Amino acid sequence: MAPKETEHEDENVVWHSHLINREARAAQKKQRPALLWFTGLSGSGKSTLAGALESKLCALGYHTYLLDGDNVRHGLCRDLGFSESDRRENIRRVGEVSKLMTDAGLIVLSAFISPFREERKAVRALFCEGEFFEIYVDTPLMVCEERDPKGLYKKAREGKIKAFTGISSAYESPKDPEIHLNTDKDAVCFLVEKCILELKSKKVIF
Ligand code: ADX
Repeated sequence: MAPKETEHEDENVVWHSHLINREARAAQKKQRPALLWFTGLSGSGKSTLAGALESKLCALGYHTYLLDGDNVRHGLCRDLGFSESDRRENIRRVGEVSKLMTDAGLIVLSAFISPFREERKAVRALFCEGEFFEIYVDTPLMVCEERDPKGLYKKAREGKIKAFTGISSAYESPKDPEIHLNTDKDAVCFLVEKCILELKSKKVIF
């Protein structure tokens, strides 16, 4: 089933249905498009896991694209900071881009802190049942802070970064994610395999 066409606030802006649609593009790629949404604290391992899963999917012959928080903030979202409203707008834009990319027939992996439940729910609402997978990269704050790969937690503790997630800005953990990954217990290859098995059981991949 195709996702709902969105309504525009201005009634003079009308949706145009093109001949080549998402079904045609997906069929050409011989795959089921999906959005795999990685959420978790900074330093939790979202990018590492999304990258490792993308490599595996790519090796299996699937067509993918990885949207990564830090990278997207160098371009599409370079005008946004880390206030609540900017983070909401960041996730809204990335949700829409992810939707366009799944319309193009791709399996999209998005790795963003995406700290607020409401915004993650809004992205989910853009997709049909079985197309959106929330993947919770569950790494305790203490572990992220110990890893501190970019030295940002240290700066946040020194008060040099305002509204840092987990320190001075909230992270609302998923209540019922499709996939729950404990990165401090299991190795990356095991966690990737867990995702692969889940995607197979949901018939996203075969
Ligand atoms: S989100 O909250 O809007 O989803 P996003 O995933 O795009 O965040 O970007 C997070 C990355 O920005 C972090 O991995 C970190 O490297 C960097 N960063 C810089 N300032 C902050 C901050 N105040 N809070 C969290 N991450 C920050």
